[in-house]
Amino acid sequence: MLIDSHGRKINYLRLAVTDRCNLRCFYCMPEQGNDWLSRKELMSYAEMLRISSLLVKMGIEKIRITGGEPFVRKDIMQFLASLSALPGLQQISLTTNGILTAPLVPDLKKLGISSINLSVDTLDQNRFFAITRRDELPRVLDTLDTLLRYDMDVKINAVVMEGKNTQDILPLVELTRDLPVSVRFIEEMPFNGGGNDFSGLAWDHFKILETIKEKYPNLQKLPDPANATAYNYGIAGHKGTVGIIAAYTRSFCGTCNRIRLTPQGSVHTCLYGGGVLNVKDLMRSGYGEPELEAALTDAILKKEKDGWGAEKVAATGQHASMATIGG
Ligand code: GTP
Ligand code: 5AD
Ligand code: SF4
Repeated sequence: MLIDSHGRKINYLRLAVTDRCNLRCFYCMPEQGNDWLSRKELMSYAEMLRISSLLVKMGIEKIRITGGEPFVRKDIMQFLASLSALPGLQQISLTTNGILTAPLVPDLKKLGISSINLSVDTLDQNRFFAITRRDELPRVLDTLDTLLRYDMDVKINAVVMEGKNTQDILPLVELTRDLPVSVRFIEEMPFNGGGNDFSGLAWDHFKILETIKEKYPNLQKLPDPANATAYNYGIAGHKGTVGIIAAYTRSFCGTCNRIRLTPQGSVHTCLYGGGVLNVKDLMRSGYGEPELEAALTDAILKKEKDGWGAEKVAATGQHASMATIGG
């Protein structure tokens, strides 16, 4: 078991398998994309598997695959198959934008990967284009439909942005009437790769909640699972639930059970901090398992008690892209 020096059990790894993406969400990266990593800078699948296997032996129980967009990396399904065979790993989940996902759903299901977080900021084609700079909403909705047909556990992520998609809040909530999904509204964070001028948060979780309550006064607070990022709510008669992630105004430090691994092998013990260790470099310089384990244990023990928080990051003017941190 992995316990950090503040008594938190660390059992959740967020593994970003690529920094690349086939969308260009303006809150995540500039129009031209980020400065993509070269193949050599990326961890290979063999390296990712080796480090995941070690971390699972050390106490990681859940791995969430993120990016960038995981499915733009070649041969990702083969990697997921190897990962799903790791003894001791209890859950693999995945965060995707849904562009390439639909045809892969049957195979994901076969691998036991049944928890998918899907980004859907809007249900309107024009607004989708304005936000992601690509005209791909039908594919995303097809993925949603396929995920539900295969009985997957689906969470929809919608970043709420003034002037962009606030008119989508209620239609997105309305999806929960007939669909067994969790629709989660996320406060925008300043992690946009310099792609836009983040000028502070216009829609915080209170404002989002008030907007929903006006139309659904019977919104009921639900108990939140341990280590949840969202405040969860139910609406009588609805099959799905609603969540609000106060990613900007609140940090989850007290109950944080996660570490992150970036595509280039950097271990981040906090969303707001930089890398504390590069396991790809250590592996390539010949480290064996005991030395790697010692280095990882040391890094995890030093996991910060309280992260900087998004507001402080915004104040530095340095806006890394979510696609390079892994969300
Ligand atoms: P599960 O709990 O595994 O479902 O994951 P999640 O909801 O954290 O994952 P997802 O990848 O769907 O991310 C949803 C939003 O939460 C994104 O905007 C993330 O950046 C944000 N988020 C994830 N982890 C953290 C964290 O440690 N701190 C903060 N402030 N936000 C986070
Ligand atoms: N602020 C809030 N959420 C973001 N995401 C990406 N960039 C940001 C940002 N700047 C979300 C994506 C995806 C999740 C992993 O993170 O929409 O759903
Ligand atoms: Fe791609 Fe996700 Fe970033 Fe959008 S938020 S550009 S889908 S990595």
